[in-house]
Amino acid sequence: MFFRCVAQPPLRTPFPTSALKASVPSSLPLFAARQCRGAISNRCLESRRHISAYGYTQAKALVYSRYGEPKDVLQLHKHSISAPNGTQVNLRLLAAPLNPADVNQIQGVYPSKPLFETTLGTQEPSAIAGNEGAFEVIATGSKVKNLTKGDWVIMKRTGQGTWRTHAQLDESQLIKIENQEGLSPLQVSTVSVNPVTAYRMIKDFCDWDWLRSGEEWVIQNGANSGVGRAAIQLGKEWGIKTLNVVRERKSPEETDVLKQELKDLGATAVVTDSELLSGEFKNIVNELTRQGREPIRLALNCVGGKNATALAKVLAPGSHMVTYGAMSKQPVALPSGLLIFKGLVFDGFWVSKWGDKNPQLKENTIKDVLQLTRAGKFKDIPVEEAKWSWDTEGSELSTAVQGTLGGYRSGKGLLRFVGGD
Ligand SMILES: NC(=O)c1ccc[n+]([C@@H]2O[C@H](COP(=O)([O-])OP(=O)(O)OC[C@H]3O[C@@H](n4cnc5c(N)ncnc54)[C@H](OP(=O)(O)O)[C@@H]3O)[C@@H](O)[C@H]2O)c1
Repeated sequence: MFFRCVAQPPLRTPFPTSALKASVPSSLPLFAARQCRGAISNRCLESRRHISAYGYTQAKALVYSRYGEPKDVLQLHKHSISAPNGTQVNLRLLAAPLNPADVNQIQGVYPSKPLFETTLGTQEPSAIAGNEGAFEVIATGSKVKNLTKGDWVIMKRTGQGTWRTHAQLDESQLIKIENQEGLSPLQVSTVSVNPVTAYRMIKDFCDWDWLRSGEEWVIQNGANSGVGRAAIQLGKEWGIKTLNVVRERKSPEETDVLKQELKDLGATAVVTDSELLSGEFKNIVNELTRQGREPIRLALNCVGGKNATALAKVLAPGSHMVTYGAMSKQPVALPSGLLIFKGLVFDGFWVSKWGDKNPQLKENTIKDVLQLTRAGKFKDIPVEEAKWSWDTEGSELSTAVQGTLGGYRSGKGLLRFVGGD
């Protein structure tokens, strides 16, 4: 049983400037050299532990100082991080996804703009890319209350920069993963954007009739996306049927494999976008919904264009369509009759803004999804993993980022840091 959410007043979250130092302290190569004997080969320096005798952690971050395509503007910046002071916490990256919004942000076409700063010692004011990721606590300041070494955390807000091997943040900027048992870095690193978006859109934009569990529907496009897969699984868990639209693959066989994959996740029905746009679609919907006796009460749209219009047309009177993405880059066009005669309501949802306004509710939502994950009810999204070791070149990472908006991928891009402390 759940209720419509009531927005909470935003919490104050202080963001003190972190004590980051550019360039490795001069003592560090000597310290490493002592362990290596003889000439200091790069290999030897690169494979050492990345914390110096003075408590400085060597770190690398994917940064940009101007907007553009990731392959053109992202740079790997090396710096060092001091030992944490007071309420500061030093972190090591476990994994960070490459979400479409991250790329849009780098391109400069995303509404939330990053902070361009020189705190990492970059020559020009730069922003750290990435908005989501799982980190492990490697050191805590003396006044840190709720975190200890080995804890897993995620950042409370987006826009903090997650594509970095290490970070120093204030304890107040972090959400602790209370019980990491049964969870993987992949699951924790991808919990705060896509599943939260799907969860809130399904819960907050429709007054479901809970006495009719299993008799009401959500329709969504982009069903193979991270958000789409989350919506399918939440729908299954909450007794809401899902009608899912995916893009056709190169061959009918591949399309069938994808359809089956989503059905295995809990999708009630899966159609392709050409089926959605065909004259037959109305009949398909009638058959699925027992001639409309099972109403489609919510549409989730991340594609736009004709695709979105087709979703709206099969909604029951008084239903909502929530637009949260625009993958086709086409505007949403709506026949006036849907507004006048059917009383449909069209909303938008942006998880970053929602999360900033509702920090506690966001944490609770994350906890709920992680609980479902532990219970095996929330499956891993498929990923294309890019391993990030100390030796990884910046160009390898930016190429992985560049592929994010390509579509037809076997999974979401994921940076997995495989270096030590
Ligand atoms: N408003 C919010 O708060 C919020 C939060 C999270 C995500 N989003 C948005 O939701 C969308 C999905 O994000 P995600 O992270 O879940 O995605 P994702 O897992 O990275 O997957 C991207 C999805 O987009 C589809 N796609 C790519 N190009 C397309 C096109 N031209 N037409 C139709 N579909 C296309 C892909 O379809 P194929 O499987 O066929 O390749 C894939 O399913 C994005 O637009 C993202 O910006 C919004």
